[in-house]
Amino acid sequence: MKFSELAKYRQSVRDYEDRPLEKEKINRCIESTRLSPSANNAQPWKFIVVDEPKLKNEVASAVSGGGMNKFSAQAPVIIAVVLEKRDVLSSIASVMQNKEYSLIDVGIAVNQFCLQAADLGLGTCIIGWFNEKKVKKLLNVPCGKRMPLVITMGYSKSPIRNKTRKPIEEMSSWNKY
Ligand SMILES: Cc1cc2nc3c(=O)[nH]c(=O)nc-3n(C[C@H](O)[C@H](O)[C@H](O)COP(=O)(O)O)c2cc1C
Repeated sequence: MKFSELAKYRQSVRDYEDRPLEKEKINRCIESTRLSPSANNAQPWKFIVVDEPKLKNEVASAVSGGGMNKFSAQAPVIIAVVLEKRDVLSSIASVMQNKEYSLIDVGIAVNQFCLQAADLGLGTCIIGWFNEKKVKKLLNVPCGKRMPLVITMGYSKSPIRNKTRKPIEEMSSWNKY
């Protein structure tokens, strides 16, 4: 797919086919994610692939606990994204610049993951609203670490939607604000 087509094709998928996902496709998404840029090349992330059905269902239930994101139960795979420690340089830069570089890094990597998945014909949904404490416990993530996002993944049942977005003149300008 051309990148411009891929950008349109990638959408949040909340309806999945009951069909297993090939490990090679998941590995290709991980490999592309490994190439993501990050501040000072800190790569402050770890992606946990949850595909063991019982565990995946337990994670899905922690993701949809509050009633939101119930669709996660349908996804054959859930990826949990752990925020890893930044290196010293990017920690110092974050303080000096008052910018949380590691969260920016994780956002970029997660998008790279989702775009690669879309290119392989897979649907994903980034999820930020979930019971982080429960998911971390299920996956043995040390309690001092944060898990900003999870991603549901599978074959999509949804048709491609038109995107609702701000107009170009509102979200961009040339030369001045
Ligand atoms: C950081 C982040 C958190 C999100 N959290 C959720 C979520 O908890 N549940 C959900 O259904 N979608 C979630 N989304 C998906 C957004 O709702 C979606 O990207 C947005 O509405 C644009 O739609 P599109 O992805 O289909 O283009 C999240 C997206 C991002 C980037």
